Amino acid sequence: MTDLRGFRGRYFFSFFLLISLACFQVSASSPSFKWITIDENSLDLTHKSIGSSFEEYKTVGGVSLIKIEKDAIKHLSSLMHVNFNRCGGYFLHDNLEEGKKFLQLREKYSLIEKTNFENYIISEQERIRPMIEQVNERKILGTIEKLTTFHNRYYQSETGVQSQNWLKAKWEEIAKGRSDIKVEFFSHSWKQPSIILTIEGSEKPEEIVVLGGHADSIAGWWGRIRARAPGADDNASGIGTITEVLRILVDNNYSPKRTIKFMAYAAEEAGLLGSKDIAGRMKNEKKNVVGVMQLDMTNYKGSELDIVMMDDYTNADQNKFIGNLIDEYVKVQWGYDKCGYACSDHASWTMQGFPASIPFEAKKNDMNRRIHTAGDTLDVSRNQASHASHFAKLALAYLVEMAK
Ligand code: BES
Ligand code: ZN
Repeated sequence: MTDLRGFRGRYFFSFFLLISLACFQVSASSPSFKWITIDENSLDLTHKSIGSSFEEYKTVGGVSLIKIEKDAIKHLSSLMHVNFNRCGGYFLHDNLEEGKKFLQLREKYSLIEKTNFENYIISEQERIRPMIEQVNERKILGTIEKLTTFHNRYYQSETGVQSQNWLKAKWEEIAKGRSDIKVEFFSHSWKQPSIILTIEGSEKPEEIVVLGGHADSIAGWWGRIRARAPGADDNASGIGTITEVLRILVDNNYSPKRTIKFMAYAAEEAGLLGSKDIAGRMKNEKKNVVGVMQLDMTNYKGSELDIVMMDDYTNADQNKFIGNLIDEYVKVQWGYDKCGYACSDHASWTMQGFPASIPFEAKKNDMNRRIHTAGDTLDVSRNQASHASHFAKLALAYLVEMAK
């Protein structure tokens, strides 16, 4: 009996250690403490477990800014994973000023949850219905399959660069012959670039609608640069869906009045890094982003509901509008749930005050459990893309209704 308990204890300890290493993100700057923002609900538990290396600064709208010793961050990571079954679950800030700015934005974006964008009106049925019929599951599947052939798409690995080279060429091939479309890399301070494809608006080019997803993948506890990470669902599925939407718009010679940008973000898995860079730059440049849709995980049907709108870190008015689009165009069951933290790139846009939404493949509790492992392969979704096709239809409807 004692032996068994010992075994269990050792087993638990190794498990704990593995989780800590998995979630520990090395940070570049020097001071021995950092500022992080964290869900107010996690505060109690965090305080109890980290104790003196922790100091609360301020809580706004359910989010707390805390000062934490750099070394305690890895404990925090494991804590979040063991208790909430997630990596990270906090935002890291280099200094107090950055943290305060984040809280101010948080205050502000709880106000901008009401946008009342003039275009939350459904009027483009005749244009959208024929396009929706063209959604081709085999095409979505093809993109997912190809992306999973890269050993991984990790933001610091060579194959993470190669996969973005392939995707850029794929988008260029689709867009060739269209002088109003350009495809560019957006470079970052790490290896893997993001990709931005722009279809210039014909009448209101300064108003921008974004459809995006992350192109990187991650797996393993250490040596992630070498780890096999097929990322079929997380997030080749989102990129496959987005690529199919692009193909259909171009095939139909569609030209929007507002500007549409397709984005394949780098380094989401390392802390929403690529989208943070892009949304931050667009904010600095005072760009008018009127709506953002994030597609991250679209091909695993884990719930009765086909589409689940996450209602945290998103815009309530836009979410409502997207719900109406599902009823009008996709005609599948949908509902709301919460991620519980800044779980994907939509949060980067929300932080900058832009209206963003994330229609997701399942309820949080029913999500694909193979993500972030070598087992995130297409067979988990029965080697088909029927679930993802709902999201392609929805994204088509969203872009055409928003960019009119
Ligand atoms: N695809 C996931 C996001 C996700 C997971 C959405 C579960 C809904 C349910 C994304 O790629 C991811 O892994 N996000 C990280 C957070 C990020 C800040 C590193 C996560 O959830 O740990
Ligand atoms: Zn992920």
